[in-house]
Amino acid sequence: MAQLCYFITVVSLLLFLQSDSYAEAGTIGVNYGRLGDNLPPSTQVVALLKSRNINRLRLFDPNLDALEALQGSGIEVVLGTLNQDLPQLAADLSFARSWVSTNVIPYSQTVRFRYISAGNEVIPGNLAAYVFPAMQNLDQALRDAQLPYSIPVSTSVSTAVLGTSYPPSQGEFSMDIDPIMRSITKFLAANGSPFLVNVYPYFSYINDPVNVPLDYALFNSSRVVVRDGELEYKNLFDAITDATYTALEKAGGASVKVVVTESGWPSNENGQIATIENARMYNNNLVAHLSGAKGTPKKPGESIEAYVFAIFNEDLKPRGTEQNFGLYYPNMTEVYHVEFIN
Ligand SMILES: *[C@@H]1O[C@H](CO)[C@@H](O)[C@H](O)[C@H]1NC(C)=O
Ligand SMILES: *[C@@H]1O[C@H](CO)[C@@H](O)[C@H](O)[C@H]1NC(C)=O
Repeated sequence: MAQLCYFITVVSLLLFLQSDSYAEAGTIGVNYGRLGDNLPPSTQVVALLKSRNINRLRLFDPNLDALEALQGSGIEVVLGTLNQDLPQLAADLSFARSWVSTNVIPYSQTVRFRYISAGNEVIPGNLAAYVFPAMQNLDQALRDAQLPYSIPVSTSVSTAVLGTSYPPSQGEFSMDIDPIMRSITKFLAANGSPFLVNVYPYFSYINDPVNVPLDYALFNSSRVVVRDGELEYKNLFDAITDATYTALEKAGGASVKVVVTESGWPSNENGQIATIENARMYNNNLVAHLSGAKGTPKKPGESIEAYVFAIFNEDLKPRGTEQNFGLYYPNMTEVYHVEFIN
């Protein structure tokens, strides 16, 4: 009997460990974009996510209604600051403190914040110079708040930060923003915080459909499309991610982890490219790829955390594909089904 108990304990422990590492592998969440005038209330959105077993969410700004709804939900949150707040966050530590007091401290017991992102996709651009000092002030304000757990500070960038992304082993940040990217990279490395990047094979494909095969962009190629030294690439997502790792290495961030804060494919408004079939294929393949915890050719076995863009089609975004990245229509009917393996 004792032996049987021991056996059962060992088996359940193994199962527990296994399911735990599996959960760690399937670290895929969604973006809660809110640029729509017809979106359901946050409480309904949170219930929808729970029903889909989606445990991670990215919010572009600290919408208090959404944060209220997320309390006690068990859904972990990547929280962004508004881009327009960056100059003041950069210039004024007391503004960063009040941002943390309003948007983080009241929820810190009931919402697990994964990261705070100082703005979204502002490098290169007019606001680029504010990002690093804003990160420093937010980090200081969070430390001073003595929260129950520490929250890494980072910034979400687009792949426009890469001057070279092909082949992946040649990845590097653009010359003009290299000093900014070096400061940010060193800060992330020193704090053990991740680099947040939005990865869209869709845009690479539409910018160069002659040289980028569609099946390579959609994770639907069984053949090797790009050979880069010893490394072989069958999908563009891995190639872009590895170019980002290479750029980080060159900027002094060999230890910095990449988190993909956005990826997705539009389902309408661009002919035979932005179709429901392609969007369904891309997002299901993305989830399956990341859940496998295979990592990328450059970083095999290193699971990647990613967030699908987005939950809803958003009618206040620019017309065209931009309004059609949602997994759901605003009435909470699925545009197409994605099997979340969380
Ligand atoms: C995906 O790959 C299969 C098998 O090669 C092919 O039949 C199908 O047309 C591809 N679909 C897309 C959208 O590339
Ligand atoms: C939800 O909205 C979509 C797109 O407008 C529509 O096709 C669908 O019929 C709606 N579903 C319900 C249940 O109203």
